Amino acid sequence: MSTLKAVRGTRDLLPPETALWNRVEATARAVFARYGFGEIRTPVFEDTQLFVRGVGEETDVVSKEMYTWEDRARAASEKAQSLTLRPENTAGVVRSYIEHKMGDTGMLQKLFYIGPQFRRERPQRGRYRQFWQIGAEVLGPQSSGAESALRDAEVLEMLATLLDELAIPRASEANDGKGWRLALNSVGSSTDRPRYIAALKAALEPVKATMCVDCQRRAETNPLRVLDCKVPEDQPIIDGLPKIAEYLDEASTAHFAEVKAALDACGVPYVIEPRLVRGLDYYTRTTFEFTVALGLGTQNALLGGGRYDGLSEMLGGPKAPGIGFAIGEDRLILTLQALAEAGSVTIAESKLDAYIAPMGAGQNAAALALAKDLRASGLSVEVGDGSFRLKKSFELADKLARRILILGEDEVATGVMTVKTFATGDQVKVERAELGEFLKN
Ligand code: HAM
Repeated sequence: MSTLKAVRGTRDLLPPETALWNRVEATARAVFARYGFGEIRTPVFEDTQLFVRGVGEETDVVSKEMYTWEDRARAASEKAQSLTLRPENTAGVVRSYIEHKMGDTGMLQKLFYIGPQFRRERPQRGRYRQFWQIGAEVLGPQSSGAESALRDAEVLEMLATLLDELAIPRASEANDGKGWRLALNSVGSSTDRPRYIAALKAALEPVKATMCVDCQRRAETNPLRVLDCKVPEDQPIIDGLPKIAEYLDEASTAHFAEVKAALDACGVPYVIEPRLVRGLDYYTRTTFEFTVALGLGTQNALLGGGRYDGLSEMLGGPKAPGIGFAIGEDRLILTLQALAEAGSVTIAESKLDAYIAPMGAGQNAAALALAKDLRASGLSVEVGDGSFRLKKSFELADKLARRILILGEDEVATGVMTVKTFATGDQVKVERAELGEFLKN
């Protein structure tokens, strides 16, 4: 019989690598807490319409990459509901904000999430069909100040802090640009956008026939998406198209200037990237991406985000401007592993405090009881069984733990243990009452 494997584009995360995932998540949670964020957990699948309306029908995510199915109708009279595994979490968070009337509190909502997302993309290094995002959203009624440029800058400064705390360097001459880089743009408000799109359409009219088929279609249906095109032959044409910055009105220009000034004041470096419109339709004004030229190959977008002042209304909710981001956690881990390989960060090897080796089945019960006591005092302990065979078992114990505790008949009778520290080879006798303290050092 053929063996079954994880589905293409999905993978198992195993220890000890999962220890690194946990450390990254713990750091993110600690940073988010300092900035006043609370955790939100929304369902992994939602009504398909949420993404069609929120993310946009013409985006690659919705038109090509979603895992969508018709749910079985419960009764003959019922219509089958179309469901989709979430390809991203912003639409779900805004749906939840509307559903739970969070806006009625009048307060700014600061929410973070950590969880899997699903896109049917061509799998490669750093690109999976089930991948993990660590994200956050800041939104609220207009009176809560959710529209303020200060929020944009705060979110970006928080991201810089998080990457600093994870020891991912900023790109500089000293590290040959092998650190993170923040690309920033403004895609304008809902009033700027139609003017820009009209200009784009006009500029595309004489050249679109020479572009790829996707661009020919997008030029008609959603010209902004032409700027996402990756086809090399189309790039010179796209470079010559009008830039959104030339179409921002006074309010959007001032908003963007305020974001930049606050970033300057906080010492967060950025590069203006006029083509950064991002692949999702809900964005207004500020858009950004952090890239990192380390360990990711072509999939160098570590995280992305932006402002979405009209999304709540697109989903039938009240006005609730917002801004947020999502970090590709798989890519963050790949980056940290590449840094560890280069020797610039250390990924702590997590060894247990002790391995208890009973010398024969007669000591099994005593070994387990000792392990229970030591674990209760906060020590991490593995316990062998009476089949312990000195040499091979010693090597195994060395891989797992910092120390080994031999438990023979004598030790059980006298309460004096023999403890060996693997790193030094030292072997000492320790009274059972002092064992806990000894192992903690
Ligand atoms: P996004 O740019 O589509 O934005 O995804 C954010 C990040 O998720 C990307 O920068 C990348 O690191 C990671 N990512 C995306 N697709 C994959 C994949 N197939 N495999 C591995 N990693 C992937 C959003 O999802 C928005 N919801 C972000 C946001 C929040 N905007 C406002 N609020």
